Amino acid sequence: MRMLLVTLLLVGSLTRSAMSLDNGLALTPAMGYNSWYDVTCSGDMNEKIIMASADAMVSTGLAKLGYKYINLDDCWAKGRDSTGAVYADNATFPSGMKALADYVHSKGLLFGVYTDRGTNTCGGRPGSQDHETIDAKSYASWGVDYVKEDSCHAPNTHGSGYAQYGKMRDALNATGRPIYFSLCGWNEWYAPVGYSLGNSWRISRDDTNWGGIITNINVNAKLAPYAGPGGWNDPCLLLGNTSANKPRITDLQQRSQFSMWAVMASPLLISSNIRKLSTYALETYSNEEVIAVNQDKIGRQGLRLAGGDLSGEGVKQSTQTDEIPKHLHKRTFDHLPSELPAQQNIWGRQLLDGGWALVFLNNGKDDVDMTCDAACFAPTGFDASTSFTVRDLWLHKDIGTGTGSNYTVSKVPANGGSVMLKLSFLP
Ligand code: GLA
Repeated sequence: MRMLLVTLLLVGSLTRSAMSLDNGLALTPAMGYNSWYDVTCSGDMNEKIIMASADAMVSTGLAKLGYKYINLDDCWAKGRDSTGAVYADNATFPSGMKALADYVHSKGLLFGVYTDRGTNTCGGRPGSQDHETIDAKSYASWGVDYVKEDSCHAPNTHGSGYAQYGKMRDALNATGRPIYFSLCGWNEWYAPVGYSLGNSWRISRDDTNWGGIITNINVNAKLAPYAGPGGWNDPCLLLGNTSANKPRITDLQQRSQFSMWAVMASPLLISSNIRKLSTYALETYSNEEVIAVNQDKIGRQGLRLAGGDLSGEGVKQSTQTDEIPKHLHKRTFDHLPSELPAQQNIWGRQLLDGGWALVFLNNGKDDVDMTCDAACFAPTGFDASTSFTVRDLWLHKDIGTGTGSNYTVSKVPANGGSVMLKLSFLP
């Protein structure tokens, strides 16, 4: 029976992928590096740093674990030539984009660039508005594998967003080169149409710090139905240290972000100085058991099983719901999380083998014991008669058994700490 369910879910996932942007990519969430929080638009945004980042991706072993994309963010482009073709900043990228792409490819990695659907990027560099065709051709001729398109200097409306992203989607498709298309439109109303436009779509603001991560988790809680193989909700980049070695979040929060991004089937784009990762950070990003949850082929985004808004600042989960045009609500989703004290969440993601990955997240000021009760377990199909084994995915240890009537995790660390478990049915 369980095998049948799993097969049906898998067939469903594959059928959905056929309706997505027709490039055959992103059957699981993208993994790689993004330059933004590492170097922003500083002088470190240059080809030497990008090449060193590609080297580090290989030497740290991260590439072998699936981190394939080396993605430039803002501030690589300088201007347009007399034909309208975009060119790289000669001061910082003197070898040009083709040479850089070749270098990245020579390491067995994939190469990404950044642009904007408006006239200019957020950093004031050339945007792709009315240049979609020529830009897509340039990208393909350089050997680009991934394009992130931002939304600065463009109207923040459904109509212009859908139309401009549609133009770039068509231009990329017309090149014949499979190029991952990453929409960066900062709004949850991209989710219902995301599949038709790109391989992932930003659902909210830049995460920037722990508060931003919490906001984006809250927004993502209701967008699970829209994600699947071929197209994913994107709650933004993985935060860590910068090239100046300043951490944006604590070690515990970094680990919690990684666990949550795995359960939410989010792109795993490390946006920190991967040339100088701490042992702890490298261990975090190298956790193969957590990566396996993120990359699980069934491609189901996890659900908030228990708890509400995590910020405790009174921001309601539904803040922006009204902005989603009614006619776009094609799929319904009526699961309501069970109750937990403020600033605590339990999330769960169903996996292809029938098991569930669970994250117990504590954003409060004190360490707490957290219980997934029968109501919390309801969407999983686990009940009092179901026994399961429990594995801690950070301790890499089997820690016991439980049933679906309730399961308690003791002392989940405060201030953004978490525990991540995998539950597997006992026959
Ligand atoms: C916006 C995007 C970020 C980053 C910057 C670059 O803020 O949301 O992810 O690309 O622009 O300027």
